[in-house]
Amino acid sequence: GENMLWGGRFTGGLDPLMVSYNESIYYDRAFHSQDILGSIAWARANHKGGILTESEFSAIESGLKKVEVEWAEGTFKIVPGVDEDIHTANERRLGEIIGKDIAGKLHTGRSRNEQIATDMRLWLRDELRTIESFLVDFLKVIAARAEKEIDFVMPGYTHLQRAQPIRWSHWMLSYGMAFSDDLERLREVVVRVNQSPLGCGALAGNPFNIDREGMAKELGFEGLLMNSMAAVSSRDFALETMQWGSMLMTHISRFAEDLIIYSTQEFSFVKLADAYSTGSSLMPQKKNPDSLELLRGKSGRAFGQMAGLMMTIKGIPSTYNKDLQESVEPLLDHCKTVSDSIQIATGVISTLVTNPERMKAALDPFMLATDLADYLVRKKVPFRDTHHISGQCVAFSEKTGTLMDQMSIDDFKAIDKRFEKDVLECFDYEKSVEMRSAAGGTSKASVLDQIAALKAVLA
Ligand code: ARG
Repeated sequence: GENMLWGGRFTGGLDPLMVSYNESIYYDRAFHSQDILGSIAWARANHKGGILTESEFSAIESGLKKVEVEWAEGTFKIVPGVDEDIHTANERRLGEIIGKDIAGKLHTGRSRNEQIATDMRLWLRDELRTIESFLVDFLKVIAARAEKEIDFVMPGYTHLQRAQPIRWSHWMLSYGMAFSDDLERLREVVVRVNQSPLGCGALAGNPFNIDREGMAKELGFEGLLMNSMAAVSSRDFALETMQWGSMLMTHISRFAEDLIIYSTQEFSFVKLADAYSTGSSLMPQKKNPDSLELLRGKSGRAFGQMAGLMMTIKGIPSTYNKDLQESVEPLLDHCKTVSDSIQIATGVISTLVTNPERMKAALDPFMLATDLADYLVRKKVPFRDTHHISGQCVAFSEKTGTLMDQMSIDDFKAIDKRFEKDVLECFDYEKSVEMRSAAGGTSKASVLDQIAALKAVLA
C-alpha cells in the first residue's frame, strides 16, 4: 500500500491477490482519452481558479497530451501492481514526464469518484452516438428493402401457425417499428448520460469554487448533475443504457428467430448470405445460420449484464463504494454486444436473398377463411354466424379433400344460402392483403405509410 497514490497512511503491502482483485486498469483503460480530456479540463479550471499558474497548467496540459499519444500508439507501459486504475496510471505517467512537483498539483480538490463517473459518462455518450448511427443504418436498410420488395406476399403466423396473408415488407416493418422506438428511446437516454459530475469531489462538492459550467462545456456535457452525492454514486446512466439495450436485444433476438425459421429448407423464404453463415466440420452439406443464432444468444448475455449490475447496485449505501467499480465491465461488454449485434443484423438483412415463389407457395386457401367470413359480413350476416359458417366450409374442405378455393358455388350454397357467385373472388391473396387498408395494415398503401413514418424518425 505505501507505494500507491493513496499510500500515505499505509505501512504494510497489499496481499498479492488483493492487488489484482482491486485493480481495474486492464478494463478501465478503455477510458484513457476521456480521462486525459477530463484532467485537462480540470487543470484549466484550476488555473482559472488560481490554483495552478499559467506555466504549471501548460506543463500539465502538454504532459497529459503526451500520455494520450502513448495510449493511442500502444506504447503506454502499465506498471503492474502500481497502476491500479486509469486515473492512477495517467497521473503516475504524467509525473514521470513533467516531474512530480507539478503533476502532484493536478489532483487538487478532485476525487477519483468524480473522475470515474466523468470518464464513464463521456465514453458512454460517444459510444451511444456511434450506436445510434449503426441503428440508423440498420433502419435505412429495412426501409429500403421494404420498399423494394413490397409486392412479396407470404403467410403471416400466429402461434407459428399459418394465419393470414401479409406482405413480406409488413413483416420487416414490424421489427422496423420496434427498432425505431429503440432509436427514439436511445436519443432520450443519451441526454441523461451526458451530464457532468466533474467538480463534485469525493461526495461533498468542491472547496475551491471550481467552474463546473466551464469544464462541462469544454467536455461537451449538456448540463451539470446538481447533487454531488448522487453525482459520484449514481450508475443509473449505465443501468438505463443497459435496460435500453436489453429491450433492443429482445427485438434483435426475435427478428433472428423468425429468420432462422424462414431460412430452414422447409420454409426457404430466405437464404442467408455466405458471409453470415458457417459450415459443419462433419456434414459437408450444412450451411448454418450462426449469425442469427448468435444474435439470439447474445441477447441473453446483454440482459444478464444488466440484471447483474442491478443486483450489484441495489443494496449499497449512499455515495461511493468500491462495488461501483463493478459497473464498468458489464457496461463495456453490454455496449460491445449491442453495437456488434446491430451491425451484424444490418449485414444479414442487407445481404439476405429472398424467395418470393416459396413465400407464395406457402399460402393456402384456409388462410382466407377470415376473408370468407368477412364476405358474409358484407352481406349483413352477424360476424359470429359468419365465423361459424366459414368454419363449416373449412370442415367441408378438410373432409372432402377439396381445397377451399376449388369448392363449387353449389358446395358453398349447400352450407349457407347467402353465398353467391362472387364468393369465389374471396380466394385472392393479393386482394386479402389489399383489404387491410386501415392505418397499420398490410395493404400496399398502409405499408408505404409505415415506410414514410420510419423515414421521418431517421431524418
Ligand atoms: N477505479 C475506481 C472505480 O472504477 C475509481 C474510483 C476509486 N475511488 C475510490 N474511492 N477508491 O470505481
